[in-house]
Amino acid sequence: MPNAIQSFLTDNKVSNINYNVSGDSIPSYDSYKKLCLEAENNFEEFWGGYATKLLSWSKTFSKVLDDSNKPHYKWFIDGSMNVTVNCLDIHLTNGNSNKNAIIFESDDGDVSKITYKDLFVRVCKFANGLKNLGYKIGDRCIIYMPMSIEVIVAMHACARLGIIHSVVFGGFSSKSLHERILDIGASLIITSDYQKRGGKQIPLKSAVDDAISLGNCDSITNVIVYKRTGSSINWLDDRDLWMDDLENNQLDYCAPVFVDAEHPLFVLYTSGSTGKPKGIQHSSAGYLLWSKMTMQWTFDTRDDDIFWCTADVGWITGHTYIAYGPLSLGLTQVIFEGIPTYPNSDRFWKMIENHKVSIFYTAPTAIRSLIKSSCIDPSVHPDNFDLSSLRVIGSVGEPISPDTWKWYYKNVGKENCPVADTWWQTETGGHMITPLPCLNYLKPGSCSLPLPGIFASVVDESGEEVPNATGGFLVIKKPWPGMIRNIWGNTERFRTSYFPEELKGYYLAGDGAQRDSDGYFWIMGRIDDVLNVSGHRLGTMEIESALVSHSKVSEAAVIGRSDDTTGEAVVAFIVMKGDKPSNEDAVNIAKELRNWIACEIGPIAKPKDIIFGDSLPKTRSGKIMRRLLRSIANGENINQDTSTIENISILDKFSISF
Ligand code: WT7
Repeated sequence: MPNAIQSFLTDNKVSNINYNVSGDSIPSYDSYKKLCLEAENNFEEFWGGYATKLLSWSKTFSKVLDDSNKPHYKWFIDGSMNVTVNCLDIHLTNGNSNKNAIIFESDDGDVSKITYKDLFVRVCKFANGLKNLGYKIGDRCIIYMPMSIEVIVAMHACARLGIIHSVVFGGFSSKSLHERILDIGASLIITSDYQKRGGKQIPLKSAVDDAISLGNCDSITNVIVYKRTGSSINWLDDRDLWMDDLENNQLDYCAPVFVDAEHPLFVLYTSGSTGKPKGIQHSSAGYLLWSKMTMQWTFDTRDDDIFWCTADVGWITGHTYIAYGPLSLGLTQVIFEGIPTYPNSDRFWKMIENHKVSIFYTAPTAIRSLIKSSCIDPSVHPDNFDLSSLRVIGSVGEPISPDTWKWYYKNVGKENCPVADTWWQTETGGHMITPLPCLNYLKPGSCSLPLPGIFASVVDESGEEVPNATGGFLVIKKPWPGMIRNIWGNTERFRTSYFPEELKGYYLAGDGAQRDSDGYFWIMGRIDDVLNVSGHRLGTMEIESALVSHSKVSEAAVIGRSDDTTGEAVVAFIVMKGDKPSNEDAVNIAKELRNWIACEIGPIAKPKDIIFGDSLPKTRSGKIMRRLLRSIANGENINQDTSTIENISILDKFSISF
């Protein structure tokens, strides 16, 4: 073990816990190194071995990797399987049948549990219902649902039949939903009447109705509705169906449709650096394998674990570490409908205590807000709860600052649980660079070392590796089974944004990074026009194009500034048609623009600050100088070269922020 890591041990020693050495976890640093070497020396055997051992195939693959048409890598050639067989059927005969698959806690605190056997039956019944309606392999289904047992049933029923699902986060507006329905060409939508969050009832079905009414949705033949609250909704008799009516009277077995290893399991939309979200397409076998392997490796899972990931299924974290990973391993997991601050900011700690959660996986933004709450009200501090069931705690979605890391480690993990600061992306399918529980040497703020089989590096513009302690582009040099397969309907964008020729065909993550002398990775934030607000990815161009589509806005530039709670916050510089508004008018216009963004994209994209000006700083060639705006928004001194600005005087004329 290198010296610098050892020196850290005194500060951040993780107590020696009893590692799971019987399964496929990685029990020691030596075994980690051994696996890394194995992957390096026998790349295909490494992956092929895991695919044979960990997945159940209806037809075994004849070749591990086909890289003849880079970057369209294909994994497990000729293999066929079904994802739900690997998450449900296998548990009917391995002793897990009566084990709880899900412990669901609703917003108002009601708890319901479902066993593997019962989940299997519900998935089969619902899949039979979908089959009776005529849905089949290759069809696309939009899922717009709250956190529930039902959303898991919906996803798995699609997977049972080879229907490609695309889950849209319930916080996205009907406009965003519409854009995704059209892009994917969905024929089916599964939603719920309402969702409950923080004691409030939020309509979902009406957003679906609105999305469909925006036009060109003739492809949609049914909207299936899970009755969450029973409050009134509009109903179209020949299109809308209740989920429980569809499940009723169906047979409790549905034969799985075995699909090719590469068959798309799902498409999940995420933001990029253009105005249009990208449909990230994942495979069936490779994705599930990576989801199962990383679940086991990163969290060192055991049969008696109670796992809780607080993400929403609308994001990749909710796909890999709620819908698929835990079920593939036969674990018991908690699924939570509500929010961390309702009814009080001790909800997470209460739930960990009540359900005896042993692995807890959440986002830095939630931790930051709970730190704040417990400073204001000591009664919600984690010290008031019995968190002794915890064994591993994780962080996901954005950089976790050393201060937040230490608070989490000390107050939640009681200096007894390793913190898994997992770096990965929608595109990577699962964890990529993350501290394994066996590492024992953790550096707050670093996501540490790549998992075995992941050849991560930091390179310059020409793809050459940079020395340690030097910033560069984070790349992955070799393919891996869980990787993105395509951007739905846009192969060209897939090739150019992720595998640019200049970078030797490496996978370009879009993050800046550097490595320290121990080889530990430090992520330095996005290198493109993508923001990370509360762990949610937002494209600045997306917000800009939504702003300029407002009738009063002439020009808009959106950038990010750092924020104590949300990590980054959206700042919009606005030039109105006509004169810059007076401070009085600006308050109202800012409100109007925020509501506009909530409708166009969703409340998560609302600008925190809105700054009005007469024009935007541009270069002589007309490019908006974002770097400069970023300095202004972050309250920094402008020490950049402003000589290329066409209209330098405008800098003094920006308003305060509204
Ligand atoms: C972007 C991916 C990871 C799944 C959920 C978000 C940032 C993610 C970390 C981390 C620093 C991180 C990166 C990445 N990010 N994890 N541990 N440390 N940054 O997935 O929406 O696809 O966002 O989130 O910038 O590129 P996503």
